Amino acid sequence: MSSRRPHPLRLAVLASGRGSNLQAIIDAIEARRVDATIVAVISNKKDAAALERARKHNLMDIFVDPKPFAGQPDNREAYDRAILAVLQQHDVELVLLAGYMKIVTTVLVNAFPHRIMNIHPSLLPSFPGLDAQKQAIEWGCKVAGCTVHFVTEGVDEGAIILQAAVPILDQDTAETLAARILKEEHKIYPKAVQLFAENRLRVEGRRVLIEQGMPVDGAVISPS
Ligand code: GRF
Repeated sequence: MSSRRPHPLRLAVLASGRGSNLQAIIDAIEARRVDATIVAVISNKKDAAALERARKHNLMDIFVDPKPFAGQPDNREAYDRAILAVLQQHDVELVLLAGYMKIVTTVLVNAFPHRIMNIHPSLLPSFPGLDAQKQAIEWGCKVAGCTVHFVTEGVDEGAIILQAAVPILDQDTAETLAARILKEEHKIYPKAVQLFAENRLRVEGRRVLIEQGMPVDGAVISPS
């Protein structure tokens, strides 16, 4: 059965770039569509626009420099240990990857089992990795979309939480398709976070089942 949390869900967002998905989450929280609080926005890029967005909204922005770890043999794990320390310091409950251009290691995945989400601009399992929108056009697909999934060590491989589809038009370029998909990303990522906040996601193997909402103030929240 789903249940209400005693406090807003404590989120950390890891982002490397422009941060439009971060912004969608911020906006959804501010509009009270998502019952959560962002306790840290973390980046591996000092000048990431995502960090600037965090500062604008008085959120904690943290740059974790990858350079000092570069020479170490287990540099990816060592870097993730530094990230983990930040997450633990802030009592993070759910980690959101939002345009985070690093592949996370078992250090993070084991510390946050089914508590790290990612958004990817394709209908997984088609087109994991980079340039997903371009790949979908070049393959000749008629439909593309985006996927929110739990994160495992494999790239874009974890259990699927929500997906949204959009058409691919004959005149589409990677850019026009990416823009159409991005609009959907900004809808489904906050929705997935809210489902988690309401404790309504049940993982059964590869499947993530969405439980019916508990009556809240006389209404029943539906998955759509
Ligand atoms: C999005 O298309 C997301 O699906 C992918 O990286 C892009 C990040 O965009 N993982 P933004 O930084 O959230 O604007």
